[in-house]
Amino acid sequence: MTATPTGGSVDERNPFVYVVAALAALNGLLFGFDTGVISGAMLYIRETFELATIFGYSMNPSLVEGVIVSGAMVGAIIGAAFGGRLADRLGRRRLILIGAVVFFVGSLIMAIAPTVEVLILGRIVDGIGVGFASVVGPLYISEISPPKIRGSLVSLNQLTITSGILIAYLVNYALSEGGQWRWMLGLGMVPAAILFAGMLFMPESPRWLYERGREDDARDVLSRTRTENQVPNELREIKETIQTESGTLRDLLQAWVRPMLVVGIGLAVFQQVTGINTVMYYAPTILESTGFADNVSILATVGIGAVNVAMTVVAVLLMDRLGRRPLLLSGLGGMTVMLAILGAVFYLPGLSGMLGWLATGSLMLYVAFFAIGLGPVFWLMISEIYPMEIRGTAMGVVTVLNWAANLIVSLTFLRLVDVFGQSGTFWLYGVLTLFALVFCYQLVPETKGRSLEEIEADLRETAFGTDADSGSPRPAETDD
Ligand code: GLC
Repeated sequence: MTATPTGGSVDERNPFVYVVAALAALNGLLFGFDTGVISGAMLYIRETFELATIFGYSMNPSLVEGVIVSGAMVGAIIGAAFGGRLADRLGRRRLILIGAVVFFVGSLIMAIAPTVEVLILGRIVDGIGVGFASVVGPLYISEISPPKIRGSLVSLNQLTITSGILIAYLVNYALSEGGQWRWMLGLGMVPAAILFAGMLFMPESPRWLYERGREDDARDVLSRTRTENQVPNELREIKETIQTESGTLRDLLQAWVRPMLVVGIGLAVFQQVTGINTVMYYAPTILESTGFADNVSILATVGIGAVNVAMTVVAVLLMDRLGRRPLLLSGLGGMTVMLAILGAVFYLPGLSGMLGWLATGSLMLYVAFFAIGLGPVFWLMISEIYPMEIRGTAMGVVTVLNWAANLIVSLTFLRLVDVFGQSGTFWLYGVLTLFALVFCYQLVPETKGRSLEEIEADLRETAFGTDADSGSPRPAETDD
């Protein structure tokens, strides 16, 4: 432990910050629940509605199903596109409150939808809430966290995403008996209501407050979330770095920010094109193709969801100890190997009984390697690497790309399997994972243990050869 000038220890912590982060991480729960719930609900929606027409136009039912499923992702793209700017304008806390209301309303619309058109509307509204949540959840937690534990606290949001997916799988399983899809979708109202009510009592991000010229409020928030002797140091650092005006979309293209824009975009796209959501959305279908019965496939899918949660817990525990890069690179290495093996498993003819278990085991390991690296590290990194003036905007842009890639991968997966077979498709994702590994090895910086202000100062230093531009003599010690 290191002593601060006022005699305290940088390793002391104010427990309230854990409460704030855990509550804000409910944003991830909305995200995950929405991701996991639809595949199960879809089985029964088919029985309620005539899916052959929309607004009186006749359509292919599988296309209508596609619209219902992907409606939420389209909503999420819209939500993320506006979410970053809104978080900069209205504040992080206020956008979380708005997102919770939007998600609540979307879930309600779906639960009571009298027609398929209204159901689709509900999916889009719900998705907009998810889009907001996916940007502002990590952003808020990152800005409210002390540097030494920021990695773990922001990764809590990925932990709740994976928990949301698992909870949705379990809810689907429990409610499948009566085919109660309205309850499956409507249950999303519960975490949304808890998030809204809890957030009313949480503080705004101190960094956003300072940027808005509200220094006293910023100091108050730091006093509530830090130990007494940590406040002056952190406030000084924020003052030295933050300019009190927010940037625009054009500021994203400034030369000194561009390298991090490339990193964010690369991570956003690679996180999706390496195939994770084909497993999240289609695991039962993949497993059935190996000869598993329906109920065994669904149970095995629950197992895969549980592995995802368990390994994300490990990531949360290790993120600030080992650092982002070791977890990211080893996770990507493991994913590449597992995708190669998965391709091979599906290539082998006539392994029938064994094949299902081999496939399940390999899928679990693939998900485990994703959960330890690329899953949490993407959301964490994009909340750390951008300068304050454009943090919200930049996160919005890369999150839009993440959702767009998610949409494309999920819409093309079944078609790819038709054309290249399961093996070919997994090998394709494997090659893309290898590219991701090289990209990350070359370009992704380590941000462990550094304050957001130090990361920003380093960025200027790399670009301009000095950090004088930021007007910030770098503090000798990162306060916790
Ligand atoms: C990440 C991805 C998300 C995926 C989830 C699975 O949060 O962004 O698309 O569904 O991990 O764990």
